[in-house]
Amino acid sequence: MSRFSDYLQATFEFSAPEAEEIIAAMKQPLGKSIRVNTRKIALEDFQTHAQEQGWELTPTDIPEVFLIDREDTSIALGNTLEHQAGWFYIQEVAAAHPPHLLREQIMKNEKWKVNNGGILLDMCAAPGGKTTQLADYFPDSLVIANEVNRTRTPQLFDNLDRMGYDNIAVVSCDGRFFQNFPEFFDAVLLDAPCSGEGTAFRDGAVIDHWHEKNIDRIAKLQKQLMETAETVVKPEGFLSYSTCTLNKEENEKVIQSLYSWEKAKVKEKQRNDKKTKIDNWELIIEDWIWQKNMHMLFSKRFWPHIEHTGGFFASIFQKKSPKTLFVKGEKKSEENKGDFVSENPQSRTSTAPFWRSYPILAAKGQQKLIVNPVTKGEREIVERFISKNLKTKLKPGFLFIIRDGVYFNQRNLGPLAQHFYFVHGGMRIGTIKNNSFTPTHHLLWCLTETSNIPQRQITREEFEWKVKNPEKWCVGRYGRGIVGIVPTE
Ligand SMILES: C[S@@+](CC[C@H](N)C(=O)[O-])C[C@H]1O[C@@H](n2cnc3c(N)ncnc32)[C@H](O)[C@@H]1O
Repeated sequence: MSRFSDYLQATFEFSAPEAEEIIAAMKQPLGKSIRVNTRKIALEDFQTHAQEQGWELTPTDIPEVFLIDREDTSIALGNTLEHQAGWFYIQEVAAAHPPHLLREQIMKNEKWKVNNGGILLDMCAAPGGKTTQLADYFPDSLVIANEVNRTRTPQLFDNLDRMGYDNIAVVSCDGRFFQNFPEFFDAVLLDAPCSGEGTAFRDGAVIDHWHEKNIDRIAKLQKQLMETAETVVKPEGFLSYSTCTLNKEENEKVIQSLYSWEKAKVKEKQRNDKKTKIDNWELIIEDWIWQKNMHMLFSKRFWPHIEHTGGFFASIFQKKSPKTLFVKGEKKSEENKGDFVSENPQSRTSTAPFWRSYPILAAKGQQKLIVNPVTKGEREIVERFISKNLKTKLKPGFLFIIRDGVYFNQRNLGPLAQHFYFVHGGMRIGTIKNNSFTPTHHLLWCLTETSNIPQRQITREEFEWKVKNPEKWCVGRYGRGIVGIVPTE
């Protein structure tokens, strides 16, 4: 009997055999699952193509997410051309739920639909599963993806480049620094750093070391990130909070910390619906606090023995108040006081809050832009390439340069770059070196008219992308799908 088993029994009222069943399920390896990138390939085309490759796809409750089983696994799924071309993202089914649930709730909201074209924040983004999913679901909005850990940003960039969205931009800072932007975002996705018990337990040894006290520290960070998320979301805006953990400290208690101010009466009700086998936890706020009017719209814990997924928790909120009356640093309860003080030398209530020093905040006129709009000459180089080789034009949008990389974004990041320190600018369409433009295969998705461009079938090897002074460019096809712009020979 492990400490985690005791915890499950004491906290969720499971019997000892049930707790052991959960732990056994958590130790099982998970089947592979993928999310199809419908901006690059139609779902039906992907399904037919998969069938031709001997890939068996089993649908899930998310239309574009499938369990995948392959006859021939000599090439790792991540090395297939389909993956390299960005037709799909390898993503755990439970982990694909926060953006899906967020979309469901947002779509119910007439006002938000009208107001589409907003700005979404993915506060903890790497490796980018949910960022690319948000970009896919909200094509007219800009997704600002943030990843604090610089060792994880290369993987995020790789995934963004591979998947090829023109409505993402990346910043790299501690999520808590967004406190500087109250009520700025239409929706915030907080997929919080967590103890990871929902996935880490597959390594059986991890479970033996599980201890409630080990999660205190991460829970504290989660509360601070959650408070930030609540602050930065606009009135009527949406917030998604998720973790790949099952314990209450990193889930319900983090959510409750939003409400633990003043005299709110928070009640927890757990409904364990044996019929549908869905455990649904509800937070009932009896007495709304005027400062924090976040309404929980949905929450779900993914129990591995029931859902056959990793352990996961997802919840969606909407900020209902017309205007947040919350004033930073005021009326903080005793329980919460000191949260920031202990971890940071300058407290939130000091005259120089710690986040002020962070470089995402533009000191007027001093902001060093990492994202630079292209010069007229650079734009001409790109446009000349496109008209000469592909006989078409760029879609309406904005070009940016980061080092020698050329990025296309449907949104003008220029004004936002006054506030955010962008390190990636959207769709990486090529490079400019010595006044010459070399495209990436993504260029195809930034063109107005593509039907006249010649096409040819290519092999996986050709797609290895060793481009040497190509004469002409065309649309590369592989099976039933298009992989992008490739050299003719
Ligand atoms: C669960 S992972 C995110 C997974 C990602 N959302 C996805 O779907 O691919 C949590 C991320 O939070 C980042 N992180 C840790 N501390 C953070 C902080 N203080 N602010 C923002 N992000 C943080 C970690 O580096 C990690 O990449």
